[in-house]
Amino acid sequence: MVNNNVKKIVVSVVSTACLCLLLLLVAVQHHGVQVDEGANGEDAGMRAPDAEPGSAPVKRGFSAYLTKLTRGRRDVEKPLRSSAAAADPQPAEDISADDIFIAVKTTKKFHQSRLNLLLDTWISRSMQQTYVFTDGEDEELKKKIGSHAVNTNCSAAHSRQALSCKMAVEYDKFIESGKKWFCHVDDDNYVNVPTLVKFLSQYPHTQDMYLGKPSLDRPIEATERLGDNKMKPVNFWFATGGAGFCVSRGLALKMSPWASGGHFMNTAEKIRLPDDCTIGYIIESVLGVPLTRSNLFHSHLENLQLVSRSEMHKQITLSYGMFENKSNIINLKGAFPVEEDPSRFKSVHCVLYPDTPWCPPQVAF
Ligand SMILES: *[C@@H]1O[C@H](CO)[C@@H](O)[C@H](O)[C@H]1NC(C)=O
Ligand SMILES: *[C@@H]1O[C@H](CO)[C@@H](O)[C@H](O)[C@H]1NC(C)=O
Repeated sequence: MVNNNVKKIVVSVVSTACLCLLLLLVAVQHHGVQVDEGANGEDAGMRAPDAEPGSAPVKRGFSAYLTKLTRGRRDVEKPLRSSAAAADPQPAEDISADDIFIAVKTTKKFHQSRLNLLLDTWISRSMQQTYVFTDGEDEELKKKIGSHAVNTNCSAAHSRQALSCKMAVEYDKFIESGKKWFCHVDDDNYVNVPTLVKFLSQYPHTQDMYLGKPSLDRPIEATERLGDNKMKPVNFWFATGGAGFCVSRGLALKMSPWASGGHFMNTAEKIRLPDDCTIGYIIESVLGVPLTRSNLFHSHLENLQLVSRSEMHKQITLSYGMFENKSNIINLKGAFPVEEDPSRFKSVHCVLYPDTPWCPPQVAF
């Protein structure tokens, strides 16, 4: 009897101790990861505090030990991390830029002011994988990129229907292309294609992958029209089109009943939301595939000053815009002054491709 009770107590003490240790280790691990990441400062508010002011003196020996352990682990990981950044993350698949279909959405009004900047910078290095989806004929554009200029025949209005109309054409052209990845960007995005290739090679294109960055901090709430005046509330995450997003071929094929031919516009009408939300609806809400977030995509809806110069080459997309009459641009001194290069895209391009003929001779920035 007594023996049994003692056994029980010992078991309970040991399992409590184990649980405590486990919790502590989890806490330490969590802490270590958060210290290592979050380089662009966006999630600074979410980081764990560096010091725990409330920790009791009795714990000092143990917590010092754990700190030492963490430091040791970090030291071991550091060379791994930096070499992974310098070389490749473990690729799931060996892909090249040729496996990606990059759709740039524009409108005739912006061919001069926005599109030419992209053609002179990142598109000039990625002509073979980039397709421009617009809404008007432009002989100059045809001369430059030929059949890669796609006149969607959609309305030039910035309406929900016109945007969905273009996305529908993008989707169909991607399926037709036979490529492994569909990536959509806007005409105010700079795409760092080699980084995009590295990023996508982490995932098999045959699996269901939806990659991008949400612009909201919560799922969007919408109502699905079911016909006969019935409505159903739906919640889902979507990747903002303005930052660019990518969909694997495996997933794109599954989207077909809601996205191909005229179906995309019908789906968009059913939830009465713009093109990028409709993509999120089909993927998350209909097919049940979650969005995989990446902070390496950037839209003009975020504070672009937070993209640091040292991390710039790691970003997949960049953008520029105006916010309350002030320009929202990345912080880069670069080759050209802001007056000559208000978007900073030319300066970015000269950092990434210093051998470009119109870039000034290389100087240290
Ligand atoms: C737009 O219309 C032109 C002329 O009718 C046609 O040749 C072209 O294929 C159409 N584009 C699309 C994407 O359907
Ligand atoms: C932005 O500038 C315009 C024209 O200069 C002015 O009319 C408007 O009030 C300004 N808006 C803000 C938010 O400062």
